[in-house]
Amino acid sequence: MVSELPVFKGKNPLIPGTEFLMDPFRFTTGKGMSLGSFYRIPFFFRKIFVTTDLEAIAHVLQRNQKNYRKSFAYRNLRLALGNGLVTNEGESWFQQRRLIQPGFHKAKLEGLFVAMGEVAERYFADLRRRTEKPTVLDLSVEMMKVTADIVLKTLFSTDNKADIAEMYRIMVDAQDYLVDRTTKPYFVPFYYVNGRHRHFRKDMDWFDRQLYALVDERRAMTNRPNDLLTMLLEARDADTGEAMSDQQLRDEAITLFAAGHETSSNGLSWILYLLSQHPEVLRSLRNEVDEVLGDRTPTFNDLPGLSYPMQVIKEGMRLYPPAFAIGREPIEDDVILGHRVPAGSVVFIAIAAVHRNPDWYERPTDFYPEHFLPEAEKERPRLAYMPFGAGPRMCIGNHFALMEMQLLLAMMVRRFNFELLPGHPIKPEPLITLKPRYGVKMRVGWRES
Ligand code: HEM
Repeated sequence: MVSELPVFKGKNPLIPGTEFLMDPFRFTTGKGMSLGSFYRIPFFFRKIFVTTDLEAIAHVLQRNQKNYRKSFAYRNLRLALGNGLVTNEGESWFQQRRLIQPGFHKAKLEGLFVAMGEVAERYFADLRRRTEKPTVLDLSVEMMKVTADIVLKTLFSTDNKADIAEMYRIMVDAQDYLVDRTTKPYFVPFYYVNGRHRHFRKDMDWFDRQLYALVDERRAMTNRPNDLLTMLLEARDADTGEAMSDQQLRDEAITLFAAGHETSSNGLSWILYLLSQHPEVLRSLRNEVDEVLGDRTPTFNDLPGLSYPMQVIKEGMRLYPPAFAIGREPIEDDVILGHRVPAGSVVFIAIAAVHRNPDWYERPTDFYPEHFLPEAEKERPRLAYMPFGAGPRMCIGNHFALMEMQLLLAMMVRRFNFELLPGHPIKPEPLITLKPRYGVKMRVGWRES
């Protein structure tokens, strides 16, 4: 017998589901936990089904994934990302994924890691200059800078500071706009009248001009650098031998830029915050980093030896997964766990709540890197940890992100002391990714070995 599905209407019957929509991270990891692993939230003419049930997740993302497309929130992202891998669907997505996947194979990543190392060395040398005397910095801004520099270097082999600064600004503004369109759909017509949409379009046009100029320049080169743009430009379809159109190249490049830095940067900001609150973990981390690396910058071959840093990274992304949820819509009516889920409704996979389920984690709300000891990981079902999603649409950049985070974390803890500014508020803000709303303000100082 299938039990009745819990329905959460919320406090305000005129705007149903507001508590969920205004802060889905807080809701799903708080009140939502008491509603069970599958519940429904009415939202105007849509039904939102929230789940943390691993069977339901496997059904939607793996077994019956052909019947699902990305939810309406991703359709707003299309306004910025076009038809890149994150927003593309169906056969066209499959072809693009097949074309791009080889760019993220181990041998390619090894090459990209060298570029990452160069950016990191430059960044930390500069940070050292700025913190010879302990200085207050917002580490979430710092992490955004260095991860954006890394993605621009590995994607375009560029480090033009003026353009980078403008790109940050555009990405931040665009994200705010697209999130507002998704969470407050009733204001959308207004944005066309008050100039907000026009401003967004103007920014995107600027971005496109930069990208097309880079692509043209790259096409003309005989000796192309070994980066992701060259990979995109030279990729050929296995069946037809065709290359990507300029429009597709633009969409994939902007997608990799957008998907590739904010997630890692927010992940690192949360980890640094957690470390500032857990000196015993920081001490063990430093010990291992010192032992494995001494005074060297990590090489690709050092990464497997940095096992405790990897546990810390995984644990940080368990508590604060940068992609805290995944949304899908059934194309045809479906049945999940015995309940009818009509076409066009939203299935909201609450990754952050899965990660805090006491069935899978001994200390669900604590920062406890032992959750990721090899024995503990083996005992847990695979989907109980899914910061990179699951199924065919799992993150293409997962290894890229993990090696980048290992590199940056190792270099940061080895040479810098950081302490959260007393009284600084820490509040998760679930935009497209989960970021610390007021940043992570720390007193940072250079640390002699
Ligand atoms: C900590 C860092 C990262 C996290 C937590 C993360 C998380 C995710 C998640 C959860 C998805 C699946 C979304 C869905 O199924 O709807 C995804 C997809 C994707 N990610 Fe990441 N990501 C990270 C870093 C990166 C990096 C570094 C890149 C590229 C350099 C990247 C590129 C992509 C792309 C292109 C997709 C779409 C894949 C497809 O649908 O075929 N991500 N990511």
